Amino acid sequence: MTTIIDGKRLADRLQNELKEQIANDSLRTPPGLVVLLVGENAASQTYVRNKELAAKRIGIHSKVDRLPAAISEKALLERITQYNVDPAFHGILVQLPLPKHIDEEKILNAISPEKDVDGFHPLNLGKLFLGKPEMIPCTPYGIMKMLDEYHIQLEGKKVVVIGRSNIVGKPMAQLVLARHATVTIAHSRTKHLAELAKTADILVVAIGRGKFITKEYVKPGAVVIDVGMNRDENGKLVGDVDFEEVAPLTSYITPVPKGVGPMTITMLMIQTYEAAKRQENAR
Ligand code: GUN
Repeated sequence: MTTIIDGKRLADRLQNELKEQIANDSLRTPPGLVVLLVGENAASQTYVRNKELAAKRIGIHSKVDRLPAAISEKALLERITQYNVDPAFHGILVQLPLPKHIDEEKILNAISPEKDVDGFHPLNLGKLFLGKPEMIPCTPYGIMKMLDEYHIQLEGKKVVVIGRSNIVGKPMAQLVLARHATVTIAHSRTKHLAELAKTADILVVAIGRGKFITKEYVKPGAVVIDVGMNRDENGKLVGDVDFEEVAPLTSYITPVPKGVGPMTITMLMIQTYEAAKRQENAR
């Protein structure tokens, strides 16, 4: 029997709980999140709008700083420096991707690690690597919450993560490793990918190719987590997994939409609140 993991329902519940916590908290200033959006990337605009709506709903003060695609790297760095010392904002997020003339790494390094609610700063990624995470990249963090919610055990399990990005694949591997799973990171140059994927008890897919994962990649009874957000030829949102074909084989599977996506936003909100509490206690 297959259980469809309801990311939307879990996200709604966690967001309601967070809203209540914030309303009952005695923070001097409401938790604040600033999102820097550079240029006009359509997908980024949608993601940022969804973050803004969630923040509003929860009682997080949010600002979207919309900047022209032609902004210089220096001017963007100066903006970040300003927000680093602005007490109204406890979280700073620079929406990726950035225009080609801007060095993404330099920008992410400039965000104060205490305000790095995306968890992309080298210090935060390093802490995660050491098994002492503070800020965790929101997508893998949300996936861990979903696995826990459905009591999916990781200890001793074989996890295959397809995708080696710094924001999903690599941190995902660290999180499951910390829970005593045996983990393999696969990617576009991996040989015999289907055979490898088929050994997984838990398969996490973040490759960015619509419906790429078919039944040849999935062991019967496996748990399948789909991080993909792709548009098909009709403009419909589809995951990296061919859900219709794969779902009947699985024990648990996340749908797209209403799977991983809402959890990513939720973890961003939770980390913003936690950053606000830490920063207030430090003052
Ligand atoms: N672009 C795609 N996903 C993300 C994310 O999680 N954070 C940021 N900052 N940019 C993204």
